[in-house]
Amino acid sequence: MAPSRSASCCCPPRPRLSAGPEKVAFPSGDQRSVLYADVDRPDIKQVRRLFAAPETARGARAGAPRPARALLTMEIYAARTDDRGEPLRDGNGRLVRGDLTAVFVMEKRAGWGAEYPDDLRNGEWEYARFTADGRSGPADTRACLGCHKPKAAQAYVFSSEKLIGAR
Ligand code: HEC
Repeated sequence: MAPSRSASCCCPPRPRLSAGPEKVAFPSGDQRSVLYADVDRPDIKQVRRLFAAPETARGARAGAPRPARALLTMEIYAARTDDRGEPLRDGNGRLVRGDLTAVFVMEKRAGWGAEYPDDLRNGEWEYARFTADGRSGPADTRACLGCHKPKAAQAYVFSSEKLIGAR
C-alpha cells in the first residue's frame, strides 16, 4: 500500500523571499491615532487624512533618534461634490469629506525591502492598499514604490515636514 500523502509531507513551504504588501497588516485605530495632516486634492476630488502611529510621530521629531520601525497611514476619502460634479468647500475653503474609499499604508521594519531591485527599492519601506473595511487591495505595489522613490532624501515620505511638526 502506498504511503498516505499529506500536505505537510509533500509540499514543504516555499521560503518567503518575495517582498510585497502581504507583510503589511491593516492598521488598528491606535496605530493610526496621530493625525498630522489633512490634504485636499481637488485635482482628483479626494480628501486625504494622514496618520502616524504614536511611536512613529515621536520618532520623527527633529533630533529624535531614527526609529527602526515606522507606520504611516493615509485614509482616502471621496470629496463631496455639487450637482455639477465640482468639489464642495466648507466655510474655511476646505474640501468636504465624503465616503472613505481606501486606506494606503506604508510600513518600515529592519531588513525589509532587500528583495527589490535598486531602481524600485524604497529603503526598508513596504506599501499596501486596503479597502475601507480592511480587505487587501491589489498586490502590485510598484506604482507606490515608483512614485515615492524620488523622495529618498526625506525617507520616501512626501509629508515629512508635516510629520516632523506632528505632536
Ligand atoms: C503618483 C504618485 C503616487 C503614487 C502612485 C502613490 N503615492 Fe503615496 N503619496 C503621494 C503623494 C504626493 C503623497 C502626499 C499626499 C498628497 O499630496 O496627496 C502621498 C502620501 C502617502 C502616504 C502618507 C505618507 C507620505 O508619504 O506623505 C502614504 C502612507 C502613501 N502615500 C501610501 C501609498 C501607497 C500604499 C501607494 C500605492 C498603493 C501610494 N502611496 C502610491 C504620491 C503617490
